[in-house]
Amino acid sequence: MQNRKGILLAGGSGTRLHPVTKIISKQILPLYDKPMIYYSMSVLMLAGIKDILIISTPRDIVFFKNLFQNGRYMGINLSYEIQEQPKGIAQALIIASNFIGKSSIALMLGDNFFYGNNLEEILIKTSKKKTSTIFAYEVNDPTRYGIVSTNKKGIPTKISEKPKKPESNFAVTGLYFYENQAVDIAQSLKPSSRNELEITDVNKYFLNKKKLNVQYLSRGFAWLDTGTFESFFEASQLIRTIENRQGIKIGCLEEIAFNKGWIKSNDLKKIIKDLNKSKYGEYLKKVLNNRWK
Ligand code: G1P
Repeated sequence: MQNRKGILLAGGSGTRLHPVTKIISKQILPLYDKPMIYYSMSVLMLAGIKDILIISTPRDIVFFKNLFQNGRYMGINLSYEIQEQPKGIAQALIIASNFIGKSSIALMLGDNFFYGNNLEEILIKTSKKKTSTIFAYEVNDPTRYGIVSTNKKGIPTKISEKPKKPESNFAVTGLYFYENQAVDIAQSLKPSSRNELEITDVNKYFLNKKKLNVQYLSRGFAWLDTGTFESFFEASQLIRTIENRQGIKIGCLEEIAFNKGWIKSNDLKKIIKDLNKSKYGEYLKKVLNNRWK
């Protein structure tokens, strides 16, 4: 089987965060102490995915290229593509079709934040499945999301995009593990009433074919999206609280790469040297030294 390839969608016009996002992508803005994109990138890396395509706007792609280059310094391979206009999440699958080739897919939205015990294990286990999986999380405000209902056996029965009268409180989060066929499905979609190719329609296709798994993220998890200033601030606060209390960092990409054995001590030492005076660099020193104990 071909390796699963990752797509990180960091596009969108971020209109809900204007005026800030009038000049810069929200995924570059700091969620507490790192650019937002670090957290979504960390999810793909934790899943063991090393080939990742970042898709962004013509205006913003340069920031991501400057930030990560080809990714080799953290043992991964990054490519970049442009989404000319915000025409929907499912369009990312079409833009990525050459990159995907015959592989299976992990599509991750750049403004989603996941944190919780055993996340890495869950991701790795799910990534090994041949069929497609969406991740569901209980929320207070289900009208804002794609919503999934399941029967008593946990088999999904219905998915609706931002329903006015939601049948459940389980939101479909912005992480999708698909079999390769998702590209063909995306290509066959018609734009929705908001003129977008809806990822919910891809999910509905797999659901109707009885080829969709739902992985619930339990109450010990945090799933936040960062589409509004409120959720943005909440996510920053959560990260700050945990990082300060435990002395760990959430979404530290070089740490993940090092722990997975994708980079060696000497590579990490070089990164630390470049990050010289920052707390991030100091933290990486700790990561390096703990490893030696
Ligand atoms: C999108 C999806 C929705 C999903 C959400 C997760 O919403 O359409 O199904 O629940 O991402 O963040 P949008 O960002 O387009 O409002």
